[in-house]
Amino acid sequence: MRFLKFAVVFLFIALPLTAVAAGHEKAKTIDELAKMYDVSSCKGCHAKIYDEWEKSYHATSLIGSPRTMATIASAVKDGIMKEWTKSGVKEIKDIKVEHMLSCLKCHLPQIKNATDAVAQEIAKAAIDGAAGDDDAKAKLKKLGINCITCHNQKALIHKWTDGEPEAGVIYGNKEGAHADGKFKALKKSPIMKESILCGQCHGLGPNFDLTEPTQCATLYGSYLHAYVPAGGNKTCQECHMDKGHFMPGYRDPDQAKKAVTVSVDATGYYFLPKAGDSQPTAKVTVKMLNNAGHRIPDG
Ligand code: HEC
Ligand code: HEC
Ligand code: HEC
Ligand code: HEC
Ligand code: HEC
Repeated sequence: MRFLKFAVVFLFIALPLTAVAAGHEKAKTIDELAKMYDVSSCKGCHAKIYDEWEKSYHATSLIGSPRTMATIASAVKDGIMKEWTKSGVKEIKDIKVEHMLSCLKCHLPQIKNATDAVAQEIAKAAIDGAAGDDDAKAKLKKLGINCITCHNQKALIHKWTDGEPEAGVIYGNKEGAHADGKFKALKKSPIMKESILCGQCHGLGPNFDLTEPTQCATLYGSYLHAYVPAGGNKTCQECHMDKGHFMPGYRDPDQAKKAVTVSVDATGYYFLPKAGDSQPTAKVTVKMLNNAGHRIPDG
């Protein structure tokens, strides 16, 4: 009994402490959120990785090809504000973080560190950007899946085993001191080399954890249920990080070349229905093999 009481008191003290260690005050503007997740310091010491990442789709995950920006805009206009009649949203000012999680759960997980005002600012910028406003697009470009998203926020999954990611820590493959002014320690993430790191956003199917489940990327589902059971033993990192942090998909010619092997076997011959009446005929056997670790195309 005495021990139990002690444990309860300890919990009450410990909870607020970890909350302070892990959390910041929430960002109230896009600029504040961009500053909270600022990675400009990384460039000085990890220049090559930074350049690769900067060119990746991760770096501009609110704009994309730019289909993402346009689709977020229509999700807000036609979905949240219109067809999802029970969302409680009529105008931009009614939008809350929870509404934008329909897309930002994966396209910008750091939205969890922002207020509803930022969710509204992003919704408006996507609509304006899709309508051709370059300033709005430039605003969205300040945010994306960056070094801190993968090396801190998403670096620990099993929170009852590993705890919450700590402030000021960069998670990679080793432990020790780190020369960055803000992220002064390195810790080992148990999943940095595992497909599950990527699976957090690359989708299993409908996102049932959301109030209004959406479905976008689903290839982690086919990786788990088709590729692995068929004997596939490569991780996402092994197939997608040979160009480092650029992480190419089908738009990269070198990656696309690896996607499918096609073998064609053709034999030409003459078929003779009756004497003197020959018909040229061909037999063509085409074999196509998907070499990706999942269904293609995705989504
Ligand atoms: C002043 C230079 C410097 C800055 C700034 C810096 N790093 Fe590092 N970083 C290093 C060095 C040096 C190592 C290797 C440490 C070691 O091997 O013990 C390292 C290691 C790492 C690793 C771990 C690699 C592994 O093997 O697991 C990651 C991840 C990383 N840095 C990310 C970042 C990020 C993200 C930023 C920006 C927020 C950043 N670094 C800023 C110098 C820097
Ligand atoms: C925080 C969520 C998140 C994590 C973690 C993540 N991704 Fe992504 N990834 C995305 C989003 C969102 C996009 C699409 C951005 C856009 O174009 O709108 C993307 C795009 C990509 C693309 C390009 C797809 C294309 O259409 O060309 C590849 C390849 C990719 N990711 C691989 C990986 C790999 C490999 C990992 C793990 C090492 C990983 N991702 C981890 C969210 C994530
Ligand atoms: C489960 C996480 C997840 C959710 C939720 C999600 N996406 Fe995605 N989305 C991704 C990933 C990962 C990719 C890139 C990989 C791919 O194309 O398979 C992607 C790709 C896209 C693309 C194609 C990228 C491009 O540059 O052309 C569009 C468009 C897109 N998402 C829009 C949306 C919209 C709009 C929403 C909300 C209604 C949304 N997504 C919700 C993870 C997600
Ligand atoms: C989409 C997730 C993702 C993003 C974004 C990301 N990383 Fe990484 N990073 C990884 C993964 C996964 C590995 C481990 C690869 C392995 O060990 O096989 C890694 C490895 C590293 C390493 C150590 C290995 C090496 O290649 O030297 C450093 C340093 C690093 N990242 C720095 C950065 C910096 C700096 C940024 C931002 C410019 C960044 N990362 C953005 C996922 C990411
Ligand atoms: C055996 C190698 C291999 C593995 C394992 C693998 N991929 Fe791929 N992936 C590819 C190839 C090759 C392509 C190019 C497909 C194409 O050209 O359409 C691709 C394409 C993609 C794309 C672009 C989607 C599209 O429509 O083409 C994304 C996103 C992606 N992979 C993410 C991942 C993630 C996340 C994992 C781990 C869950 C993973 N991949 C595992 C080889 C692999």
